[in-house]
Amino acid sequence: MSDKASVSSARDAEDRERHPLAMETLVSLCAARGFIYPSSEIYGGLAGFWDYGPLGVELKNNLKAFWWRRMVRERDDVVGIDSAIISHPRTWEASGHVEGFSDPMVDCRTCKRRFRADQIEGERCPEAPKKRAITDCDLTESREFNLMLRTELGASVDESTTAYLRPETCQAIFSGFKRVRESARQKVPFGIAQIGKAFRNEITPRNFTFRSREFEQAEMEFFCHPSESEKWFAHWREERLQFHRDLGFDESLLRTRPHAPDELAHYARAAEDIEFLFPFGWQEIEGIHDRGDWDLTRHTAYSGKELAVTNEHTKERFTPVVIETSVGIDRTALALLIAAYRRERLENGEERTVLHFHPALAPIKAAILPLSKKLAEPARAIQKNLRKHFNVFYDEAGNIGRRYRRQDEVGTPFCVTVDFDSGDDGCVTVRERDTMEQKRIPIEGLERYLRDLLEEGL
Ligand code: GAP
Repeated sequence: MSDKASVSSARDAEDRERHPLAMETLVSLCAARGFIYPSSEIYGGLAGFWDYGPLGVELKNNLKAFWWRRMVRERDDVVGIDSAIISHPRTWEASGHVEGFSDPMVDCRTCKRRFRADQIEGERCPEAPKKRAITDCDLTESREFNLMLRTELGASVDESTTAYLRPETCQAIFSGFKRVRESARQKVPFGIAQIGKAFRNEITPRNFTFRSREFEQAEMEFFCHPSESEKWFAHWREERLQFHRDLGFDESLLRTRPHAPDELAHYARAAEDIEFLFPFGWQEIEGIHDRGDWDLTRHTAYSGKELAVTNEHTKERFTPVVIETSVGIDRTALALLIAAYRRERLENGEERTVLHFHPALAPIKAAILPLSKKLAEPARAIQKNLRKHFNVFYDEAGNIGRRYRRQDEVGTPFCVTVDFDSGDDGCVTVRERDTMEQKRIPIEGLERYLRDLLEEGL
């Protein structure tokens, strides 16, 4: 039953730069094992849209649950909401998105393709990559292209019915600020968090899910006194870095990068990105922004509703400033897959593919594997008990080695084998994914044993 092996997998940043994981390898694994695949695949897919399969949705849900626990449940000073995706159209005038949320765009007059003007330097023409660079194509002048996706509300189609699918989730936090503060009996400083879909009509969606047109954000807006913005910015920068370390990202795969003044978004006074080392280079997974009083001041002006607060001790009246933490769930899920992926050579000369997820994030926590189909009944009984607590998977098909390999490939941290001794000694064998070590554990204490290991370090 044992497949104990030596593991050659010291993967630091240097190693990754020398042997980058080919994105195609990961994209195929994700499709084949049901993590992520193109949306509307049978119609040829739709650029920038992706579907999460049975394992992908579990991974994403685990990631979101961990974020919610860290950012909302474990804190007294942050509360959560879940707002509508479509807000009053005035919201996006107030937020500055109607006027200023755009990327520079050029069109190729020959092939009619559209490119982001600031991303064509050094890129080859997709129609004739051997012949010319995009900059040598017959391009139009660069012009601004608003990234918000428009839709129409109601039956008649005119300007007054135009609405937008939100390009960031936070605006409803600002427009609902007074309601949430009063109903949750919070006082500044405090934060409001939410997880939800956002939409951007990206000109060139690329790098698998990295730049999508529909994606999820987990955002937290922390409202504080203007004199405390630097303190809270430093606090949240540290908290958020720790979150990524706790996800299991090695220090060598993470870095922070402050924004230069000319790259700041229209709402930000200061910003710092948390970046991850993807196979296609260092890229942002989270932004920490000092949004100043931009949002509350603008919503006050556009709605006519006062959003300032009063300090009940000093009686000072002020508009809170906002420190924002905004992480992409899809980008982080992609980073988790990349960081977890390894090909390992075993002692017997075979190779295995493993996803070394933190057990708490793994889509399947334990696979229940009866050694023979004759042991289905006791194995099903164990599954029935464990599935009340975690996502478990039952598999009785194929030899045990092949079943282990299948679970390694999707990152299942524990395989629970039921054998012919289990009926006599009341024990099962638990095989651990990373070390491949096996231990005999009493069935009675199995749930507790797994739970302790699943939560280790979080
Ligand atoms: N409310 C602030 C805001 O939206 P942002 O830097 O534009 O800030 C925050 O976005 C995060 O959302 C990014 O760090 C990234 O993880 C994610 N994100 C942004 N655009 C994305 C896209 N097109 N596809 C996938 N994720 C995206």
